[in-house]
Amino acid sequence: MKKILIINGPNINMLGSREPGIYGNATLADIEKAISSLAKELKVEVEFFQSNHEGEIVDKIQSVKDKVFAIVINPAAFTHTSVAIRDAISAIAAPAIEVHISNVYSREEFRHKSYIAGVCIGQIAGFGVDGYLFALKKLASL
Ligand code: DQA
Repeated sequence: MKKILIINGPNINMLGSREPGIYGNATLADIEKAISSLAKELKVEVEFFQSNHEGEIVDKIQSVKDKVFAIVINPAAFTHTSVAIRDAISAIAAPAIEVHISNVYSREEFRHKSYIAGVCIGQIAGFGVDGYLFALKKLASL
């Protein structure tokens, strides 16, 4: 069975109470529940990882080299800063899709730049929880 790793970066563990006007009311647990139920339908295995620490995300990506089929990643604030996460994705063969809950392009200019998108097969932004589900569906179909 294809295994897909779902990575969420800093402050995504605060969803639900964090700026609900921007990110909605769903908690990270709600998102993971929705992903798990779609994964069941698609007959893929999913693993969840959330960290507020850049190095931990790099370590996690390195650790799944040759062990996962694909990655869905919401790098959160590290999207706009992290060459290290970009390089980690480049270093492993698994295809990745970058997801953002909010439309980063309608927000502050510093959110318009992604260091990660260029090493992903695509980017989804602005569709809330559905972005994760679409990414999973796409990766499962590869
Ligand atoms: C985010 C957008 C980022 O700019 C922000 O730093 C986040 C969440 C999103 O999902 O919309 O933490 O990745």
